[in-house]
Amino acid sequence: MARRNKIYEGKAKILYEGPEPGTIVQYFKDDATAFNAEKKATIEGKGVLNNRLSEFFMTGLNNIGVPTHFIKRLNMREQLVRQVEIIPLEVIVRNYAAGSMSKRLGIEEGTQLPRPIVEYCYKDDALGDPLVTEEHIAAFGWASQQDMDDILSLALRVNDFMSGVMMAVGIKLVDFKIEIGRVYDGDFQRLIVADEISPDSCRLWDIETGQKLDKDVFRRDLGSLTDAYTEVAKRLGVMPKNNAPVSKPTLIN
Ligand code: TMP
Repeated sequence: MARRNKIYEGKAKILYEGPEPGTIVQYFKDDATAFNAEKKATIEGKGVLNNRLSEFFMTGLNNIGVPTHFIKRLNMREQLVRQVEIIPLEVIVRNYAAGSMSKRLGIEEGTQLPRPIVEYCYKDDALGDPLVTEEHIAAFGWASQQDMDDILSLALRVNDFMSGVMMAVGIKLVDFKIEIGRVYDGDFQRLIVADEISPDSCRLWDIETGQKLDKDVFRRDLGSLTDAYTEVAKRLGVMPKNNAPVSKPTLIN
């Protein structure tokens, strides 16, 4: 294959120019970072797992009419996605208190929230992605009021879908982060789910034991991140089938 042009390299993914205009190849690295890259490691197999898991979630969303950037998986580490203009917000949906919300508001981790709470952070690594309100978003023109209505609706639909899918395999969706992109179809523009949805960007707890099956395993040194993500992939039936028996040629009489 011809050498591709790298468009952008982030902490966990690399974006290359896609084969058609308006497409991008998204490559999942094995790198893990936390606390705005203060903590770093390479975790063998993470990229392969996240490529599969993000494919699984995005395909499911596409199938129920929640538009995403996902087109198709290309290989173990790469997927073809639509090129979007990323809205510079991290959209977080929380069903149970955890992480920064527990710290900020003094609510014990695991406390069920009265309803899903949506938060917005301004995507800026140098500032550490600070929490912002809709006032900031409107005043600084990061998104319009119509965009914010659409973003809220997408975020809640993703939450309902993800909560149900995870619940069915004995996992509680505590919270997650998504990113939203703008695409242009002729004269129209619309917003779609972009980036990735994986255990890197969700909090997933086993319903029975409370065991953490997400990036907190890495953030908090709780054991093997690969084992945790593999468990999620296994339960969802999306394990990469490396060990699938290869059918041998058989003699036909
Ligand atoms: P937080 O409790 O640290 O604010 O995280 C909320 C959710 O957002 C959690 O599921 C992890 C995810 N997240 C990201 O995907 N990227 C980030 O940079 C951060 C800080 C959180």
